Amino acid sequence: MSTPEPNLIAPVGRLRPRRLRSTPALRRLTAQTRVHPAGLVLPLFVKEGLEEPAPIGSMPGVVQHSRDSLRRAVAQAAEAGIGGVMLFGVPTHRDATGSQATDPHGVLNVAITDAVREAGDALVVQADLCLDEFTDHGHCGVLTPDGRVDNDATLVRYAAMALAQAEAGAHLVGLSGMMDGQTAVVRDVLDDHGHDDVAVLAYAAKYASAFYGPFREAVDSQLEGDRRTYQMDPANRREAAQEVALDIAEGADIVMVKPAMSYLDVLADVAATSTVPVAAYQVSGEYAMIEAAAANGWIDRRRAVMESVLSIRRAGADQVLTYWAVELAGWLQEES
Ligand code: PBG
Repeated sequence: MSTPEPNLIAPVGRLRPRRLRSTPALRRLTAQTRVHPAGLVLPLFVKEGLEEPAPIGSMPGVVQHSRDSLRRAVAQAAEAGIGGVMLFGVPTHRDATGSQATDPHGVLNVAITDAVREAGDALVVQADLCLDEFTDHGHCGVLTPDGRVDNDATLVRYAAMALAQAEAGAHLVGLSGMMDGQTAVVRDVLDDHGHDDVAVLAYAAKYASAFYGPFREAVDSQLEGDRRTYQMDPANRREAAQEVALDIAEGADIVMVKPAMSYLDVLADVAATSTVPVAAYQVSGEYAMIEAAAANGWIDRRRAVMESVLSIRRAGADQVLTYWAVELAGWLQEES
């Protein structure tokens, strides 16, 4: 057998991208994106009147917390070294204006104070600022007599809610309602009442997504219909730039893209242009899909979770809200 020509043995020349993939140490050294516990935020649900935590069927491993179990979950989050918690409240009483959202004894406001007491030095205690968990119709705002979501009347409620959350001790309020002008109104009311140190996270590019499905169960949502008159159309990419620019101009400290995995293009756009930190929310449906596939043995759960969060970081998110935050932090600890 004749010896092949040298240029047929090595047709690739001198550049061999495989070289840096050849050992775990080289791969570790050259990894361009890293996930760190400090950049992870854990969403937590707390339900009024629960004695014991209640499982959420569509989100295996996630629960609606009782007041006590919430405190333990917050302590555990601090122990894991993650960056923060995002609190959602599920009240027993709901009405047209979401009155429990602004009651200092309301479930979410009490939970904020509990969380700050439990781990307020170690974690950024964040609260969802939206009315949908508190209204009997399940919309993110108050309604006009003919049933449309009234933007400017809702802003009045958001301002009151921001004050209640700040007074409960929240370090950061997460504006997820997608009303026009919400960031400006909340920033102003906080500043006017001496809460200029409370940060505002604007869910700037929040899409009307089917991937919020399991969240509806997590908060016992009453919603009929959808949120397409206020959340963004999944068809739109350019509009995210406008939403982000408005929120930054109105005083947002952090802007968010939500959901994450189906919106990585939007996230990359926002990360490239934002002058403030960028967060992404890996939402309930993203969690449920991976859990369901893994439960069937169709994908490797740990690798899929890691890869999904890594991809969100790679697209440009500085922070990731994920239901796996604490478990991920444990894995990252193990690996380091
Ligand atoms: C609104 C809110 C929602 C989520 C976070 N904040 C629901 C919605 O907009 O319909 C969804 C989060 C998730 O799906 O994990 N308060």
